[in-house]
Amino acid sequence: QTADSLFIINNFAEQFFTKALTASEEGRLIGLSYFKERGFREGIIEKFRLGYSPNERDAFTKEALAKQYNKELLLKSGLVVERNGTLMDNYRGRVIFPVHNHSGKVMGFGARILKTTDKAPKYINTPENEIYIKSKILYGSYFARAAIEKADECLLVEGYTDVISLHQAGIENVVASGGTSLTVDQLRLIKKYTNNLTIIYDGDAAGIKAALRGLDLALEESLNVKLVLIPDKEDPDSFVNKVGAGAFTEFIKKNKKDFILFQLESSLAAIGDDPVKKSELVNKIAESISRINKAEDFTRQQDYIKESATILNIDEAGLHALVNKYIRDRV
Ligand code: GTP
Ligand code: MN
Ligand code: MN
Ligand code: MN
Ligand code: MN
Repeated sequence: QTADSLFIINNFAEQFFTKALTASEEGRLIGLSYFKERGFREGIIEKFRLGYSPNERDAFTKEALAKQYNKELLLKSGLVVERNGTLMDNYRGRVIFPVHNHSGKVMGFGARILKTTDKAPKYINTPENEIYIKSKILYGSYFARAAIEKADECLLVEGYTDVISLHQAGIENVVASGGTSLTVDQLRLIKKYTNNLTIIYDGDAAGIKAALRGLDLALEESLNVKLVLIPDKEDPDSFVNKVGAGAFTEFIKKNKKDFILFQLESSLAAIGDDPVKKSELVNKIAESISRINKAEDFTRQQDYIKESATILNIDEAGLHALVNKYIRDRV
C-alpha cells in the first residue's frame, strides 16, 4: 500500500524533474548545460530520464501538495522535508538521476550538486523507505538486463554517470552499486541474469577497498568474479569519454584479473617477506578458496589452490589441506 503510493509519487516527481530540465530556462541553462558539458547527448538524457530540480524553496512541494499528494508520504519519499514546520524541497538546484528498479519503476533519486564544494554533499540520495532499500539497488538494471543476458556478463561500476556514459558508448551490460560495498542481495540480482561478474571500480584507494570487500560474498554466491581497476584519477565515465568505446573495451579485456588472484598478488606485494604476515595471508586465501564450496565449482577450487600455491611459492598439498580444514570448520 505505502509502497504503491511511493512509486506513484516518484513517478510524478520524475515527470516534474524531466520537465524542469527542458521546459524552463533555468533548467536548460543550468541543468541541461551541465549534462551536455559532461558529454551526455539528448538521447541518453531522455533514456535515463535525467532531470533538474529548480533552485527554489518549494517548487516541487507546491505542485505535489496542489495535486493532493499526502504529506506523510511526501516526507517518506525524501522529496520533501520539513524545516521549522514548513514543507520544502529536499533537492534544490541539483541535477536528478532517477533510480529505476528492474521493471523500470522509480524507486528513488540521486541528486547531484552542480559544483562540488566541501560544505554540501555531492549527491543527496533518497532515504531508506519501503521501496528504496540501499542494499538491493543496482542502478541501471532495467536498461542493462537484455545486454547482460546477451553478453552473459555483467559489468559493475560505482556511479550513476559511469553507467550512463558506458551506455552512450554502446556498452550496455552495466549496472552500478552506488559506491557502497556489494551486498548479497545485489549479487543475487546479478545472478538472475549471469554468473559472470566483472567489477570495474575507480582506481582510487576507496574503489580498491570497496571492490575487495565484495570478494567473499561473491564467492559464496558462486559468481565468477573478475576485477579491473581504472587507471589513476579516472573512473569508467571519464575514461571512456577520454579514450573512446573501442579502447575502453580493449582495456577491460586486457586488464581483467581474477578476483582471488588479484587480492593475492596485491596483498603479497604489500607484505614483502614478513613471515608472520605471509602466514596470515596464506590463511586468508585458504579461507576465501574454501568458500567456493559447491559441487559444480570443484574444478575451480582445485585451480585456485594450484595457482595460489604457485604465486605464494608454497606447497600445493599443504594449501589443499588448509582449505579442507576451513571447509570442515564451517560445517
Ligand atoms: P561524478 O562526480 O558525478 O562523476 O560522480 P561519481 O559517480 O564519479 O562519484 P564517485 O566516484 O565520487 O562516487 C561513486 C558513487 O558513490 C556515486 O555515483 C554516488 O552513488 C555515491 N556518492 C558519491 N558521493 C556521494 C555523497 O556525497 N553522498 C552519497 N550519499 N553518495 C555519494
Ligand atoms: Mn560496491
Ligand atoms: Mn571514487
Ligand atoms: Mn565520475
Ligand atoms: Mn567515480
